Amino acid sequence: MALLPILCYPDPKLHKVAKPVAEVTDRIKTLAADMIETMYEAKGIGLAATQVDVHERLIVIDVSEERDQAIVLVNPELVWTSAEKRINEEGCLSVPGIYDGVERFDAVHVQALDEHGKSRKIEADGMLAVCIQHEMDHLLGKVFVEYLSPLKRNRIKTKMLKAQREERA
Ligand code: NI
Repeated sequence: MALLPILCYPDPKLHKVAKPVAEVTDRIKTLAADMIETMYEAKGIGLAATQVDVHERLIVIDVSEERDQAIVLVNPELVWTSAEKRINEEGCLSVPGIYDGVERFDAVHVQALDEHGKSRKIEADGMLAVCIQHEMDHLLGKVFVEYLSPLKRNRIKTKMLKAQREERA
C-alpha cells in the first residue's frame, strides 16, 4: 500500500470529469486500498479518485468513529434522492482548513460496484449521505467551494494559493 499525493484547490486537475471504471481489476483494488490509507492518514471521511489525480469513477468513504468501516464505491450512481434538503458544514482534503455550509439531499440511495466488482446498493442518510454527494461531485470535477458565493470562493482561492506558495518557499 502507498500514500498518494492529494491535489489541492485551485488545481485545475480537480475539475476533470472522471470516466467510468471499465472493469474492477487488481489495479483498481490497489488504487482503492491506497486511497483508503491516504484518507485515514489525512484524517478525512471520504476521498475521490479525482483528488489523487486518477480520473475514474471511484470513491472511498469511512464515516465510522472507529475508522474501520471503509466503503469502496466504483461507478456510483444516485438512484433515489429525498425531497428534503439540508445545509451541512463541509470540508475537503483538497481545500484544507476551509469549512462552509452546502445544501445537499437529506438522504440518497446509491448503486455502485464494490472493490470485488460486486453490485451494491447503499441507503444513506446523515453524514454518509452528505459524504457520498460530496465525493460524487469530485468525480464530476466539482469542489464544494463552487457552491459558495464568488466572493467567498475567490477569498478561498487566494488563501490556498498563498498557503501553497509559502509551503514551497
Ligand atoms: Ni472533497
